[in-house]
Amino acid sequence: MPFLRVSLRARMKQLTHISKEVNGTTNLDKEVLLAWVLQKNKEWVLTHPDYKLSNFEYRAFNKAIERRKKHEPIAYITGTKEFYGQPFFVTKATLIPRPETEELVDEAITHIVETTPRGVSERRGRATSLQVIDIGTGSGNIILSVAMNIPPHSPLTLRGEVAASPPLCIRGGGGSLLPTYTAVDISKKALKIAKKNHKKLCPQIPITFIKSDLLKNIPSKTWDQEHILILANLPYLPQSDSKTIAKDITKFEPATALYSGEEGLDHLTELIQQIKNLSSRHSELHAKNLDQNRDPSPSVQDDEKKRTVTLIAEIDPRQSAILKKQFPLAKIKKDLSKKDRIFTLSF
Ligand SMILES: C[S@@+](CC[C@H](N)C(=O)[O-])C[C@H]1O[C@@H](n2cnc3c(N)ncnc32)[C@H](O)[C@@H]1O
Repeated sequence: MPFLRVSLRARMKQLTHISKEVNGTTNLDKEVLLAWVLQKNKEWVLTHPDYKLSNFEYRAFNKAIERRKKHEPIAYITGTKEFYGQPFFVTKATLIPRPETEELVDEAITHIVETTPRGVSERRGRATSLQVIDIGTGSGNIILSVAMNIPPHSPLTLRGEVAASPPLCIRGGGGSLLPTYTAVDISKKALKIAKKNHKKLCPQIPITFIKSDLLKNIPSKTWDQEHILILANLPYLPQSDSKTIAKDITKFEPATALYSGEEGLDHLTELIQQIKNLSSRHSELHAKNLDQNRDPSPSVQDDEKKRTVTLIAEIDPRQSAILKKQFPLAKIKKDLSKKDRIFTLSF
């Protein structure tokens, strides 16, 4: 059958019909699919309703529609998802980054700003070392977003906005903070995508990628840094959710990225145990260093003692009560929908 040159207006109508069949399809989804097929942006699609699709575009569009009808998420069809202002490659080996995870990135940046001791390095003429470890990196969306928004590789920014008054301790170009980055995942395929995103988005920032079950394969020298910040968006859904959540998720996103035992807390509990064991090594090591390199100034000694090991993890709001009881000193922050979402624990 010969192809008709069909206008975008007609295609949008077709999509309106489809959106009734496929759960969760929004107007935005329709525009994204058309924009992807045409390699234009959404604004272009909206402002060119009379543009006629070529045969090639028509076929590509129909193929995308067929995939969407089978509940495949838009991000897997287009192969990308925007996160923290950047386009990340995604495949079925990686979770599709969620908007609430941007709050974990905000929290990580704020933590780095607030907890890195000020002025120590200037007095001692050296940089303050910070090791950032992202556990369950998936597409690398968390670690890359943090690395791209703190000095020395960028001015200090929160969601792309330059921070009003960067604190003394974080300075661009030869500044006093020396961050290093490690990204971990148990899935080799996910790590491959994280590395691809790293190469595309910020190859100038050194990041070490490690295949590991939580912290098991992290080299012990990692704990030599003064400040350790562990970021984790691990699987956190109770296994029983597999019967109730949307088909778009259960049929397409990797189960290894979603479920974590009966209450959804198996991964987080195991990670906290591993950090507890390793952080005692961290404090022993630094107590020893402090003893050997004793500085005559008491203020410098005070700053030196402020070594930190901190975990910032995304949680399911349903876990908040259990976690508050188990870790009364932890801080739990709400997301933009006012749900408990970001769990911070210092060791
Ligand atoms: C919820 S996804 C998060 C992905 C990404 N960080 C994000 O925010 O979109 C969880 C990730 O943890 C990884 N993972 C699952 N179990 C793990 C384990 N024991 N050790 C390390 N990573 C694990 C999965 O492969 C998956 O990539």
